Amino acid sequence: MNRKQDKHQDYRGQKIVKYLLLPMSACLAVILSIAFLFHLLGDDTRISGSQESIASQAVEAYETMPLSSAIEQTETTNTVPPETMQNTTTSIEVSDQEETQPHSTEQTASARYTYLPQSELKLYDGIADPRTVKARDVIDPHSFSALVNKGFTLPADFEPAELVPASGFDWFQLHPAAAAAWTDLRQACQQETGIVLYMTSAYRSFDVQNMLFNSALNRKGIAMSVGYNAYQGRSEHQLGLAIDIMDSNTSKNSTRFAQTETYGWMMKNAARFGFILRYPAHKVHITDYSYEPWHFRYVGIELANHLAEYDLTLEEYHGLGPLSDFITDPS
Ligand code: DAL
Ligand code: ZN
Repeated sequence: MNRKQDKHQDYRGQKIVKYLLLPMSACLAVILSIAFLFHLLGDDTRISGSQESIASQAVEAYETMPLSSAIEQTETTNTVPPETMQNTTTSIEVSDQEETQPHSTEQTASARYTYLPQSELKLYDGIADPRTVKARDVIDPHSFSALVNKGFTLPADFEPAELVPASGFDWFQLHPAAAAAWTDLRQACQQETGIVLYMTSAYRSFDVQNMLFNSALNRKGIAMSVGYNAYQGRSEHQLGLAIDIMDSNTSKNSTRFAQTETYGWMMKNAARFGFILRYPAHKVHITDYSYEPWHFRYVGIELANHLAEYDLTLEEYHGLGPLSDFITDPS
C-alpha cells in the first residue's frame, strides 16, 4: 500500500510540472522578452530625436548668420600669412575710358593739368612704381617752384640754363642760385654749430638718373627702389635745385641722419637759405616717396619760409594731394 501511494504522488508531481509550471515559465519568458524589446525601441527613439534637434538648431544658426561671417568661417583655414601679404603687389585698376575720350583741361578743377590715360597703377607697400604712371610735362621747369615728381616729367634733354660747381664739392654742379644758397648754408652751419656739411649729390642728368634707377632695381629690388629712387625725367636733381647731404659723422645717406644734431639744425634753419626738406616722414602719402632726411630742395627763401610755416610739400603748394588722385581724372 505504501508503495502504491508513493507511485501516485510521483505521478501527480510530474503532472504539475508538465501542465502548470512549464507553461507558466514559457509565458513569463515571452512577456519579459517583449518588455525588453519595447525598452530598447524606446531608447532608440529618444536618441534619434535628440540628434535631429541638434542638427536643426545648427542649420537654423547657419541660416541666420550674416553672410560675411559665414564666409569667414569657411575661409579660416585658407588665411594668407601676413608676411606673404606684405610682399604682394597691389594693383589698382584705373579706368582707361580716356583712351577714346581725351579730356579737355578746361573740364577739370585743376585746369592747368591734362589727365593722361592710366592703364594700371602698380603699388609696392602703398608706393607707386613710376613706370606705371603716365606723367605729364613739368610746368615751367625754370621756376624755383617747379614741381617734378612721379606725375610730372622733364624732357630727356632738359638742363638748367646754367650749372656751377658746388663749394667744397666742386665735382658736383648746381643751378647758380642753389649753389650760392648752399655756400651760405654750409658756412652758417659751421659757424653756428661747428659742424661741417657734406654733399653727396646735386645735379643729375636724365641719363645718370636712368642708370641710378636701374642700378637700384638690380641691387635693392622694386619695393625699395620706388620708395627712394626717381625714374628718369622725374627727379628734381635734374633741375639742379636738389641736394643730398650728410655730416662728418655719417658715412652714407640713411635715415640715421635724422637723429643727428646736424639734421636738427637743418630743420630749424634750412628755410633761411631757401631750402626745404622735400620728403618728410609724415608726407609720404603726398610725395609718394619714403622719408629722406638727407634730400633738400632749393625753392627760394620766401617760398621756403611759407612752406615751412604752413607745413606744406610742393605738391600741396601746387594744390595737389596724393599721387593716385592727381594722375587720375576726377570727373
Ligand atoms: N631720391 C629722390 C626721390 C630722387 O631720386 O630724385
Ligand atoms: Zn636727393
